Amino acid sequence: MSHELEGKVALVTGGAGAIGAAVAAALTRAGAIVVSADKARAAVDAVQAGVHAEELDITSRDDVVRLVTHVVARHGALDILVNAAGVVSFGSAGTLAESEWDRVLDINLKGVFLACQAAMAPMKASGFGRIVNIGSVVGKNAGNARPWRDAGEQAKAGNVAYGVSKAGVHMLTLFLAKELAAHGVTVNAVAPGPIETSMTTGFPDALRELIPAGRMGTPEDVARAVLFLCAPENGFVTGEILDINGGMYCD
Ligand SMILES: NC(=O)c1ccc[n+]([C@@H]2O[C@H](COP(=O)([O-])OP(=O)(O)OC[C@H]3O[C@@H](n4cnc5c(N)ncnc54)[C@H](O)[C@@H]3O)[C@@H](O)[C@H]2O)c1
Repeated sequence: MSHELEGKVALVTGGAGAIGAAVAAALTRAGAIVVSADKARAAVDAVQAGVHAEELDITSRDDVVRLVTHVVARHGALDILVNAAGVVSFGSAGTLAESEWDRVLDINLKGVFLACQAAMAPMKASGFGRIVNIGSVVGKNAGNARPWRDAGEQAKAGNVAYGVSKAGVHMLTLFLAKELAAHGVTVNAVAPGPIETSMTTGFPDALRELIPAGRMGTPEDVARAVLFLCAPENGFVTGEILDINGGMYCD
C-alpha cells in the first residue's frame, strides 16, 4: 500500500456516490485524511467507513464555504479537492424543460465552480493544491452515436444539459489550471465514459458495442486516474482532461 498522500487533507464531494466513494477509498488507502461530503451525511456513512462524513448541498455557496472553512479549521489544511457530485439528465434540446436545464447546470457546473472557488484560497495560502473535477466523455463527444436504435432515440438518449454542463466543467478546469499554476495548485479533470454505477443501470446493452475495450468502466478505474492526478510529484500535470473510456472516444 502506497502512502504517498500521508498527511494530506482531501475533500471529496458526492462522496456517497459510486465514483466519489471509490475515490475517497483510494485517497484513504494512500494515507490522506478524507472528508467525504454529500447531500446527507448518513448516505456517506452508509457507503464508507474511515472517512469524515459531512453534509453538503453543492449548489449552495454558503454550504460550500462553511464546509471548506470547517475542513481547514479541523484538519489544518485543504490539499486535495475532488468534485464528484453530479446528476445525470436526459433530453434533447428541442424538448428539454428550462427547469431541467437549470437543475443540471446548477449542480454539475455551478457546484464545481463554487467548490473550486472556496478551495483555492487555502490552497494558494499553503502553496500546494490538487483539484480534480469529474467531467465526462459526453462533454467531449456530444453524446453517443445511436446507442438507442429506435425511432425515438433522440428524445430518449439526448443528454444536452448533461453534456453542456460537463463541457463547462472541462473548460472551467482549463481556466483554473492557468489561474492557479503559479501557486503550486494543479487543476485537472477526468472524462469517464460509461461507468458501472446507478447512473448507468438503465443504459442499453448496445452501449457496450461502442466501447472498443468491450466493457464499461468501474468506479475504481476512475479512482486510479484521480489518484495519479493528486500525487504530490505530479505537479507539472495541469489543465489535462484525462479520458477514461476504454477507447470509446479519443482526442
Ligand atoms: N457513472 C458514469 O457513467 C459517469 C460517467 C462520466 C461521469 N460521471 C460523473 O461522475 C460523478 C459521479 O457519478 P456517479 O456515477 O458516482 O453517480 P452517483 O449518482 O452514484 O453519485 C453522484 C453523487 O452526487 C451527489 N449529489 C447530487 N446532487 C448533489 C448536491 N446538490 N450536493 C451534493 N451532492 C450531490 C448524489 O447524492 C450522489 O451521491 C458525476 O459528476 C457524474 O456526472 C459518471
